[in-house]
Amino acid sequence: MTRENPFPRIYFGGDYNPDQWSEEVWEEDMRLFELAHVNMVTLPVFSWAKIQPSEDEFRFEWLDRILDLLASRGISACLATPTAAQPAWMSRNYPDILPVDEEGRKRTHGKRVNYCPNSPSYRKFSRGIALRMAERYRAHPALAIWHISNEYGTYCFCDNCAAAFRKWLKKRYATVGELNRRWNLDFWGHLIADWEEITVPSELNDDNKWYQPKMLDYLRFLTDSTIDCFNNEKEAILSVSSDIPVTTNMSGFIKKMNQQLFNEHMDYAAWDNYPAPGAEPSLVALKHDIVRGLKGGRSYIMMEQSPNQQNWQPFNTLKRPGEVRLLSYQALAHGADTVLFFQMRQSVGGVEKFHGALIEHHGAENTRVFRECAALGGELERLGDVFTGGTTEAKAALLVDWENWWALELSTGPNRDTDYMAILHKYYKAFYGRNILVDVIRPESDLSSYSLVAVPNLYMVKPGVSDNLKAYTKQGGCLVTGCFSGIVDENDLVTTKGFPGEMRDLLGIWVEEFDALPPDRENGIAINDPIGKLTGTYSCAHLFDLLHLESAEALGTYTDDFYKGRPSLTVNRYGKGSAYYVATDPEQALLDDLIGELCRQNGVEAPETVPAGVEVTVRKKGGASCFFFMNHGEETVRLPLKGRKLLVGKILPEKDGLRIVLPHGGVAIAVEERAL
Ligand code: GLA
Ligand code: ZN
Repeated sequence: MTRENPFPRIYFGGDYNPDQWSEEVWEEDMRLFELAHVNMVTLPVFSWAKIQPSEDEFRFEWLDRILDLLASRGISACLATPTAAQPAWMSRNYPDILPVDEEGRKRTHGKRVNYCPNSPSYRKFSRGIALRMAERYRAHPALAIWHISNEYGTYCFCDNCAAAFRKWLKKRYATVGELNRRWNLDFWGHLIADWEEITVPSELNDDNKWYQPKMLDYLRFLTDSTIDCFNNEKEAILSVSSDIPVTTNMSGFIKKMNQQLFNEHMDYAAWDNYPAPGAEPSLVALKHDIVRGLKGGRSYIMMEQSPNQQNWQPFNTLKRPGEVRLLSYQALAHGADTVLFFQMRQSVGGVEKFHGALIEHHGAENTRVFRECAALGGELERLGDVFTGGTTEAKAALLVDWENWWALELSTGPNRDTDYMAILHKYYKAFYGRNILVDVIRPESDLSSYSLVAVPNLYMVKPGVSDNLKAYTKQGGCLVTGCFSGIVDENDLVTTKGFPGEMRDLLGIWVEEFDALPPDRENGIAINDPIGKLTGTYSCAHLFDLLHLESAEALGTYTDDFYKGRPSLTVNRYGKGSAYYVATDPEQALLDDLIGELCRQNGVEAPETVPAGVEVTVRKKGGASCFFFMNHGEETVRLPLKGRKLLVGKILPEKDGLRIVLPHGGVAIAVEERAL
């Protein structure tokens, strides 16, 4: 496996903590791994204290033994630097490592991911251990991937961070005057005369909630500081081991760090997929597509998922029979090339003692979870490399911006409960429900290959973005923009050009005001002239832009309140293309019908028409198209095989030919070879 070509097979396995068990158990683990077709384990994620029990003492022998054991069984290692949890002696002797939390409390040693990203001691020791590991294991036959640390995400507010923040600001703004201007510090008399007067935004001054330009930059700064932590270790590794891919796993909550920036530094995107029990398949699919978009569509690593229940949900529902299999194939269907679990063997103590695992406390193989996982491992082994490295060819794109996410949700007013992920999900669902493949990319990305682009609630418009959207539309693109867009610049300063700011001519509207109502109060969108399925009235809620038409036409108008009859859905012809504006938060059906109609008009089609509840995606590799069918619905469905070769699933002959039979939770993979 190399940085260029890392997936010779689907990696199957996951987090393994052999240091919690005696060596006799390791032998048994190897037997069970073989039974389950495990071909990769991730270790030693949290073993820093075991490897470096004191500053000058290193104990790698146990790790050597387990890595040799893995190699002897043909199991690859996703080799983690253990830097997500520093040893107790380190926190004790180098207190700059311990972070200060948002309430201003200096933390004491404990838990994990409990270090300051700007601590010089943390940087020194984490680089040191990464280098030693790279030197020791760079040629180890088990080594396949470098996994740095684990789920980065500390927000620290200590003095080291404050000093580093000032330096970061100086670099960004050069002069105090420019900072005063870009943060609009005339407001509430916040003007500063000297860099040293800058404090960090926290609960101690409430600027974390009350001064958005500052908090926004602090979030950017924390992302940059954390990227520096990652690069600090990555550089050490690459200095001696330059051809093995380097990554880190992002948490399923993903918002904390700007992953669009972070991933520029990683060889492969990686994330931990922990849907809540009963999560909508479309939400899981959206997150997969977000991750695939982080590295321009390159296949990615699903670093963790639970083989059974979790321990940290309010109700830790068991995964139903077949659920893990379905979730695993969904990941592969969206561009992952791994199915990795947390965890291989369940801990007997600590907060995760009831977290699902391949091997449970008693160690028996005769369990539902083990049997299901082992069967899945066998299937994945048989698939070989048929689609690994394969790409998704989408004609539709959803534009997402991490900083827009922060800014939108930090904003006080007009609406307290704005949830960017929920908004994105709503737009995404309109595509997903039709099995339209979607690339989730940044607003500044090249859009020329897309026939339809949706950009929900682009509150923050950064330099270059409106020009990009204009160029796309002018050349014939179809753009759908959500409400409350074009409001602020990258510093959260409101445009003085009239909303939607720089996009005013593109959308052909001027938004004069926006109304916000409590969730139980609704308005309606009455469609003027039926457009395809778009007809009658749809409900809308939360936010309501009150706009004037400049060059746009109204496709729909509000049905109630003092703005009854004013436009709520518009289109503007711009160059050879069209720019739509959805001026409120509409019910799902409006987006379903609008996006459905625009897909039809612009020739954006699903890879295959299937019954509702069935998800279908395609990954292309070489001359082959790999079709994934997943039945999230209750009823068994039968799909035509169409001459494809079935790799996973069941077929039955019927009058009109062979049919793929997909029961509830069922999966099928069928490959269609095309001459190159
Ligand atoms: C995260 C961590 C793992 C484990 C799981 C449990 O994803 O990376 O170490 O704690 O959560 O769900
Ligand atoms: Zn700090």
